[in-house]
Amino acid sequence: MRERIEELLHEIEELKAQKMQDIEEYRIKLLGKKGSVTKLFEDFREILPEQKREFGQKLNALKQAAAAKLDELREKLEENPSQEEAKFDYTKPGDRFDLGTRHPISITREEIISIFSKFGYAVAEGPEIEDDWHVFGALNFPPEHPARDMQDTFFVSQAGGDNPILLRTHTSSVQVRAMEKMPLPIRIICPGRVFRNEAISARAHCIFHQVEGLYIDKNVSFADLKQAILLFAKEMFGEDSKIRLRPSYFPFTEPSAEVDVSCNICKGKGCNICKGTGWLEIMGCGMVDPNVLEASGIDPKEYSGFAFGMGVERIAMLKWQVKDLRHYFENDVRFLREFETVV
Ligand code: PHE
Repeated sequence: MRERIEELLHEIEELKAQKMQDIEEYRIKLLGKKGSVTKLFEDFREILPEQKREFGQKLNALKQAAAAKLDELREKLEENPSQEEAKFDYTKPGDRFDLGTRHPISITREEIISIFSKFGYAVAEGPEIEDDWHVFGALNFPPEHPARDMQDTFFVSQAGGDNPILLRTHTSSVQVRAMEKMPLPIRIICPGRVFRNEAISARAHCIFHQVEGLYIDKNVSFADLKQAILLFAKEMFGEDSKIRLRPSYFPFTEPSAEVDVSCNICKGKGCNICKGTGWLEIMGCGMVDPNVLEASGIDPKEYSGFAFGMGVERIAMLKWQVKDLRHYFENDVRFLREFETVV
């Protein structure tokens, strides 16, 4: 044992450290649970009683020497960092930190909102989980009327009896809530998520986003509606955009129309985006049906209004010529990065 102590003392004497990690390794090797000094303390238990005094002192001295040496190495390193660390160039630029980008749907929604804000429209929001009354009833969808089939609905609960709880199929429900409680005149746009029981394909999804608009005042006419939509189309798709209205049907508007904008890709000549027609369908619109005004407590003899509604994904697809709607939901960063410079 005497020799082993001498040997270890010598080893400790010679220790040199380049980095802090070396010191920690020495500590484990000497004083750790299975370290050589610790091992000697275990052997000490079996030593002859008359030798205990001598070896006890020697072992304690060894342990102290090891601890002192480790402290000394640590202090030296702190004062004078190792060669290796000194070589590290702190002025080198760090790793690139990737910033996120705004989602194309958010970009499009914000653009639509900012255009209508310029025209004096305020933003109104409402719940995604709605009751039948606000999504259908107040909008002139009579019970059992086939018009309800136009929008396949996800029902949440039948607890409301003939007013079940469901996921809204359009943000027209927000317009109903506004008509119920806002003072007249009303000029709002309602952006939000909507839900329809549709099979997912390149052209349809069960979740999508809408921006709908509503303007109610005295003497609002169809000409006002056309003008608002034309101005919007010019802001969104370019100054030389034209619009055309085709007769359509919605239970809550009369008359109703579907709006097409001139194809901004082929400038009306016909291409594969507009399927050779020169026109792209962008929204539905119409004059608010008097029954709808009445259902929300507005006198249709005194007030009239128009409403319109568009799908944000559709507008975004047309603006950036994205051919598959599903790209907007998959969030593949290679797709999202394409919009980095748009923001
Ligand atoms: N709510 C209709 C839809 O979701 C769109 C629309 C709104 C049509 C307002 C006319 C007037 O399809």
